Amino acid sequence: MRIGVPKETAEGERRVATVPDVVGKLVKLGFGVAVESGAGDAANFADDTYREAGADVLPTAAELWATSDIVFKVRPPSPAEVGLMREGGTLIGFVWPAQNPELMQQLAAKRATVLAIDSLPRQLSRAQKMDALTSMAGVSGYRAVIEAANAFGRFFNGQVTAAGKIPPAKVFIAGAGVAGLAAIGTAANLGAIVRANDTRAEVADQVVSLGGEFVKVDYEEEGSGGGGYAKVMSEGFQAAQRAMYAQQAKECDIIITTALIPGKPAPRLITAEMVRSMKPGSVIVDMAAEQGGNCELTVPGEAVVRHGVTIVGYTDLASRLAKQSSTLYSNNLLRLTEELCKTKDGVIDVNMDDDAIRGLTVIRQGEVTWPPPPLKLPAPPPKPAAAAAVPAKKGHGHGAGEPMSAKALATVFGLGAIAFALVGLYAPASFLAHFVVFVLACFVGYMVIWNVTPSLHTPLMSVTNAISSIIAIGALVQIAPPLDGAGADRPSGLILGLAVFALALTAINMFGGFAVTRRMLAMFRK
Ligand code: NAI
Repeated sequence: MRIGVPKETAEGERRVATVPDVVGKLVKLGFGVAVESGAGDAANFADDTYREAGADVLPTAAELWATSDIVFKVRPPSPAEVGLMREGGTLIGFVWPAQNPELMQQLAAKRATVLAIDSLPRQLSRAQKMDALTSMAGVSGYRAVIEAANAFGRFFNGQVTAAGKIPPAKVFIAGAGVAGLAAIGTAANLGAIVRANDTRAEVADQVVSLGGEFVKVDYEEEGSGGGGYAKVMSEGFQAAQRAMYAQQAKECDIIITTALIPGKPAPRLITAEMVRSMKPGSVIVDMAAEQGGNCELTVPGEAVVRHGVTIVGYTDLASRLAKQSSTLYSNNLLRLTEELCKTKDGVIDVNMDDDAIRGLTVIRQGEVTWPPPPLKLPAPPPKPAAAAAVPAKKGHGHGAGEPMSAKALATVFGLGAIAFALVGLYAPASFLAHFVVFVLACFVGYMVIWNVTPSLHTPLMSVTNAISSIIAIGALVQIAPPLDGAGADRPSGLILGLAVFALALTAINMFGGFAVTRRMLAMFRK
């Protein structure tokens, strides 16, 4: 079968559905590939690079659509493009069936088979490699920070220079989904102080792991609506959230908003009043501009200045990083093609028994199959948080990490003191001296290790191992000639051999310990 890649016709769209690297892989799967001349120009992929990868470059869209069995696109096709499509052909790309009922009818009338990449069941872990929504949101989150940096008149990182001290920029991210997390990572890497908020408490750890600080709303309500999406929050929560956002608007220099519940208008989180309270020269990037905007003053598709604050409402952030987003998107389509053509013979099989393919297929040979039946996912495991929330009953022992009660601690110490007194009364004096050192060493070791973050236990242990290689001193004493020069007390050959062997082993322990520590610590350094 032949796969065709037309030039995108939507205004300002710079992405292309397949890049030359992927063309070669599609050819290996047995497909012929045709590309419309100039399709990759705006993403810096010239016609010649497609030719070198094994594609035919066709001069017109009409020729491309007419000769392709399968068409790979980024944006939903225009009515004119549907007109060019082959009867019974296959289309793969963004379609947004809920928003485009007319397009769905036109495609159905063409007896087309349509795989809408936006309808992929993202809950399936198997589907992640095909998840173009995630890859595009990741690129867009990155680009949102770059747009903010471009409009912001200062450095992101704090600096101390001869010309004065520069404080780091403060960035607040509203909504820590895919785009929000990418923005947090990018802004933190640029050296800004990053704070973020989301209604789903489960993302707090992810925010922290990317270098941000999770700012909680002072109101107890869980915002997870299942499937990794949020739910609409109560009035009380929204009021508390507005108060927190108002405070952040006053403190932060840059706000990037990505809050959205799919299928709902974007929540209005940043009011005109909050914009007015921001410092002059501050920036807001409203990623939800297309769905009505998280900020009251956003103009979709434009960057405007209101009350001295630049509000960026671009709706084409992924397209503004066309080479990167085209590469990721075409890899997503390649993974999908591999799923459709397991036999690697250049023929696709739209297997409706496969949950991922079923979810994607919105029209099959002219029959509308959207929306798909609900997915049968295994029941989620019971929440450990619920169990942890129940207070432990008195006298029922200690769970891991649960502190001992004062009474239990006193008993342990009392018994220890009695045992110590008995040893002191009956054991020889020399034993007692060693025993005291031993007990103190155990205590100090315990306190040291317990106060170190668990992730640093390996380097700690390897260093203490290296330091504790006291055997080396004993071995050296055996090997070294006696200071008075008398040869009579030299140890036998066997003891000398053992001492050399012990020294070799201890050297491995010492140098190995420090080497392991260095490597472990290097993992924590930027
Ligand atoms: P997502 O669904 O992964 O993330 C949205 C996040 O917002 C979720 O974590 C959700 O819990 C959170 N949220 C919902 N309501 C909230 C509220 N009231 N307060 C705080 N957090 C709330 O979506 P994704 O993929 O990260 O996209 C984010 C936004 O960016 C969407 O509006 C999407 O359309 C837009 N987008 C814009 C692009 C552009 O060029 N401007 C390109 C790609 C995505």
